[in-house]
Amino acid sequence: VKEEPLVAPTNAVYGYTDRMSYAAGDLVRVHANADAPTVVEVDLVDITDGETTEVPWSGAGRYEALPQSHCVGSFAVIEDGLPASADAFALGTWLWPTTPDGSGVQTLLAVESTDGRALALEVEDGDVVLSSHGPHGRSVMARAGVSLLPRTWYFAAAQAVDGRVAVTVAAVAPGAEPVSGSAEPADAVELAAGARISLAGAHVARVERAGSAVRGTADDLFNGKLEAPFVIAGGLSEAELAAAASGDTSVVTSDAARVLGAWDLAPSGPGNDVAVRGIGGAPDGLLVNLPARGVTGVSWTGAVASFLHAPREYAAAHFHEDDLSDVGWSSLLEAGLPPDVGSGLYGIRLRCGEHTDVIPITVVPSASSSAPILVVLPTFTYLAYANEHMFEGDVSGLRPDVQLDPRDAIRVGKPEYGLSQYDRHSDDGGVLFSSSARAILTMRADYEMWLTESGRGYCGDMYLLRWLRAEGLPFDVVTDLEVHQQGRQLLSRYAVVVTGAHPEYTSAEMQDALRAYRDSGGNVMYLGGNGFYQATGVVSEYPLITEIRRGHAGVRGWDSAPGEVTLVSSGEPGGPWRHRGQAPQGLVGVGFCAQGWDRSSPYRRSAESEGPDVSWIFEGVEGDDIGAVGLVRGGAAGDEIDRADVALGTPPSTVVLASSYGHSDAYQRAIEELGMNLPGLGGGTTDPEVRADMTYTPVRGGGAVFSVGSIAWTGSLAGDSPDPGVVAITRNVLRRFAAGPRDA
Ligand SMILES: [Fe+2]
Repeated sequence: VKEEPLVAPTNAVYGYTDRMSYAAGDLVRVHANADAPTVVEVDLVDITDGETTEVPWSGAGRYEALPQSHCVGSFAVIEDGLPASADAFALGTWLWPTTPDGSGVQTLLAVESTDGRALALEVEDGDVVLSSHGPHGRSVMARAGVSLLPRTWYFAAAQAVDGRVAVTVAAVAPGAEPVSGSAEPADAVELAAGARISLAGAHVARVERAGSAVRGTADDLFNGKLEAPFVIAGGLSEAELAAAASGDTSVVTSDAARVLGAWDLAPSGPGNDVAVRGIGGAPDGLLVNLPARGVTGVSWTGAVASFLHAPREYAAAHFHEDDLSDVGWSSLLEAGLPPDVGSGLYGIRLRCGEHTDVIPITVVPSASSSAPILVVLPTFTYLAYANEHMFEGDVSGLRPDVQLDPRDAIRVGKPEYGLSQYDRHSDDGGVLFSSSARAILTMRADYEMWLTESGRGYCGDMYLLRWLRAEGLPFDVVTDLEVHQQGRQLLSRYAVVVTGAHPEYTSAEMQDALRAYRDSGGNVMYLGGNGFYQATGVVSEYPLITEIRRGHAGVRGWDSAPGEVTLVSSGEPGGPWRHRGQAPQGLVGVGFCAQGWDRSSPYRRSAESEGPDVSWIFEGVEGDDIGAVGLVRGGAAGDEIDRADVALGTPPSTVVLASSYGHSDAYQRAIEELGMNLPGLGGGTTDPEVRADMTYTPVRGGGAVFSVGSIAWTGSLAGDSPDPGVVAITRNVLRRFAAGPRDA
């Protein structure tokens, strides 16, 4: 009897590239992590054709992939932080802990000598302690004896004077008495000159700049805010303690002669400032793994709502044990793309055994491309949803029976895959940043999301891209980043700009680019829903790291903390564009109004669609109903949908060509449209404002905007039986638009 050969366990290898988009000939660096050392077969494939065609590439070959360490969890480090040694000193910080009772030790401030010994002020079991770290491990020297409350400001300091050490904690609150504990350690306690200071983490290693991000590793990470950390010579007087407990952070720097080191965690202005500024000649440090700045500090009054208007009230940084700016996997290979590769979607395919991971990249067009059509891949939205964990909460109201892709299970509980901007940190705070420097398993051409049980995001946009390929008209592809960087200059090379199905997250530069293009003769096809919704900042271009602030209204996975709606990357107000006076209706005719995920609906043609200026859009369309089938929950109008509304900026020239109907009460109005929760609000069955509008907007400069207002639309272009109406309409508009400006 012939025995079956043993099947080796599948060794998974996942990766990411140093950029999301490249020009032909650009160097691509591939980073990968393996469960165990393994040989991986790498090649380049065409994604638009279904990942079947291999593209000749000098990088193709066999490589050894290794298990990697991961740069996760934010902290700060100041090398050579101490100019002089001291045997009588006080060190401390203001803190706003978010998980004071969390398991393990959380460093507030550690002073580490060059011989590896350290003194550290820490949170442990809700208390604040001073501990020493040495060759024999860690030992606690003194405890304050406090029970820290989460999300409350405290002043905490450790002192060593005359052979005694003491830890004192005072809540910054009326009537709070300082709590103190002290001890007489057997050995003398000293701070050595040249010591390294670390904040919110200890045993710092591997700090390196990667583009405009700084990554590294540390232990004993802290969750919460820190402000005004310091080391001074001598102890703190009663009067100084009282001032510190009132939230006066200047008290520790007011006597310059005693300051050994003091640091300012406020951002210097909008941008990706990673410096921790030394005060009074203290050396500067670095923020590592992107803690949040532009967050309220101990002296925030609520009189202003932006760090730009009162920097001293925003002098804190918020650290999270699960912050991620660049996971830091080492490079598996780097190789230049073929110099003649055309614009489009490609994949770096990693194969070992039965395992395959195809990392998507976009090749942008050369300046000499003559294609009339430009597709803008909504990468900012892919990042917003990247590796989301919504399914870990109660989502029974969204989907009664959640079917996960196996890749969802792979990343649960693994912080190296990072969080999405829909998630919360382990300390419950909203996730502001999302980075491309990690393996984004939700951004794969065959990844179907549990929410719609179909393609959504990158996989959803394959419906459009593969249909376009089959149509045979030449088209180029760029990502949000190129539009953000190059603006109208880039768009104006094309007769028509086509969006993806869900271009929700846009920067001001992108909004301006599309508006300017539209108003100077450009044609826009907005083939999605919930587009142009959230103001988004760019923290870093390479790797791409975006920032959002959800604000206090609108559909949102979390609420911005009070006073924390301003984007630190740009200084602009975050939150929905609608609340900046730029509701999407003003840009593309329609804007987000409702969402639901039970089943998608068809559209019905309006009487206005018969008009002589627009009836060409319906050439070849039989009957008045359009989009009764589709891959996204069985219809063309669904998931997140948009409607026209003159009050929100829909231009007077806009023609509503068709509107969806028959939505169930699973479709509810967007929360920003509801002033009050009252009985009888109903939903799709009773609310006439729950609908997707298909619109056509002629623009004075000669261009026009065609919008469908539904994420599900492009799903009706795909599959074995695409919807003939959706196909005919999309084709009619695309061909007319691609032929040049409307009046040309
Ligand atoms: Fe959305």
